[in-house]
Amino acid sequence: MSADSGALPLRTVDPADAEAVAAWSRVPQVAFMRPAPEDAGRAALESVERMAGHRLSGVVDAGRWVATYRSFDSELTLPGTGPVSVNAVSTVTVLPTHRRRGLLRRLIGEDLRRARESGHALAVLIAAEAPIYGRFGFGAATASAGLVLDAGAVRFRADAPGGSGRLELVEPALAWRELSAVHDAARRARPGGLLREDVWWRQWTRPGARGALGPQAHVVLHRDGDGRADGYAAYEVSEEWAGRVSRCSARVLDLQALSPGAYRDLWGFVTSLDWVRTVHAADRPVDEVLPLLLEDPRAVQRGAVDDFLWVRPLDAAGALAARRYLGCGSLVLRVLDEDGPAAATVRLHVDAQRCGQDGWTCAEVTATSQEPDVVLGAAELGALLLGGVSAVALAAAGRVAGSPAAVQQLQSLLATPRAPWCPTWF
Ligand SMILES: CC(C)(COP(=O)(O)OP(=O)(O)OC[C@H]1O[C@@H](n2cnc3c(N)ncnc32)[C@H](O)[C@@H]1OP(=O)(O)O)[C@@H](O)C(=O)NCCC(=O)NCCS
Repeated sequence: MSADSGALPLRTVDPADAEAVAAWSRVPQVAFMRPAPEDAGRAALESVERMAGHRLSGVVDAGRWVATYRSFDSELTLPGTGPVSVNAVSTVTVLPTHRRRGLLRRLIGEDLRRARESGHALAVLIAAEAPIYGRFGFGAATASAGLVLDAGAVRFRADAPGGSGRLELVEPALAWRELSAVHDAARRARPGGLLREDVWWRQWTRPGARGALGPQAHVVLHRDGDGRADGYAAYEVSEEWAGRVSRCSARVLDLQALSPGAYRDLWGFVTSLDWVRTVHAADRPVDEVLPLLLEDPRAVQRGAVDDFLWVRPLDAAGALAARRYLGCGSLVLRVLDEDGPAAATVRLHVDAQRCGQDGWTCAEVTATSQEPDVVLGAAELGALLLGGVSAVALAAAGRVAGSPAAVQQLQSLLATPRAPWCPTWF
């Protein structure tokens, strides 16, 4: 073990080289406390398939990988606009023998510099532990909720939409293109949505234990009156009996719907499965509509609400200009980003005259030497950009500075009708 990790050079890995990828992948196995794969050769080939075109780097000490880092180009849906290209960060691991010697700092610093130079305005990641990434300018921008449903108490209100389509149990490996098309439309319609590439779907739906969906999973597809897929639910059922009394539960692994009818029908389906008394769902949006459709909204209990997608502006003006706004007004923002690329003072101007027919307006964002109305860090701007975090709350926490009127105006400008949601692990 080297005493001076600072002297250890950063290395890159060819993501197409299965042997090199297998050696590199031993670090995340240790750091994420995962068992070594039973078939290391096949696992390496699957990694190569999944990580084609990704940027793999890390640190080697005495001929052995001791740190890993991966980034790739993805797409994130911003408020009021379509997806924008983002630098997605993953597989950040350092062996326990080499932790807290600055390896992560060096790897992430190098990658974020490169991402900024290549024109990305934003980077995103999912944080294993919340205290790690604020110091690197990332803020938690989406939250997800766990739900527990009392299936026996789920009764839909008479005015709930639904019932016009049809449901079909499908073979996931055969139906993945239809599932992917539904998800793709859904992720474009809500801030926080992330691209799932074809390889994601192929690996998710691969039959048996090799598929990320798992061998117990079922997938039900919803078709509209014209036969077009407009929703799906993936779920699995766990069998448990107390004597002859069922205690079986279902777990919703993913549920996406493009219409209120499909949404209601799919939840109706998973809560009316024979034997199933309780339905669990993880990583759901915090503004889930389901309770509002029920005669007894308490049939849906919300469990823990956790941060999910963390966003980091790499270019403050570019990030603010990439989304659109519902309100109008003008504010000077100073973004603080010590040693980072997002430090800037910009005027955010949203002019009602430029409002589109859909009610959203593009902002003019220009560098200025004016005194700021609001001062905030890069991590706070990252948290605010998708509209899921309140600027007023961050100001109350001492993390955004400005007069109450200016902070409130910032909050009105950034707010979005639907909570940002990202259910895609990467
Ligand atoms: C998290 C991990 C990648 C950190 O790597 P590292 O090389 O030890 O990090 P660094 O030495 O570069 O630390 C940089 C800074 O982050 C802080 N930090 C690192 N990990 C932290 C953690 N888990 N909690 C709080 N702070 C952390 C360090 O204290 C240091 O702070 P400082 O600059 O104020 O002194 C590593 O500990 C690890 O692999 N953990 C297990 C897997 C994991 O959680 N990976 C993250 C996946 S998102």
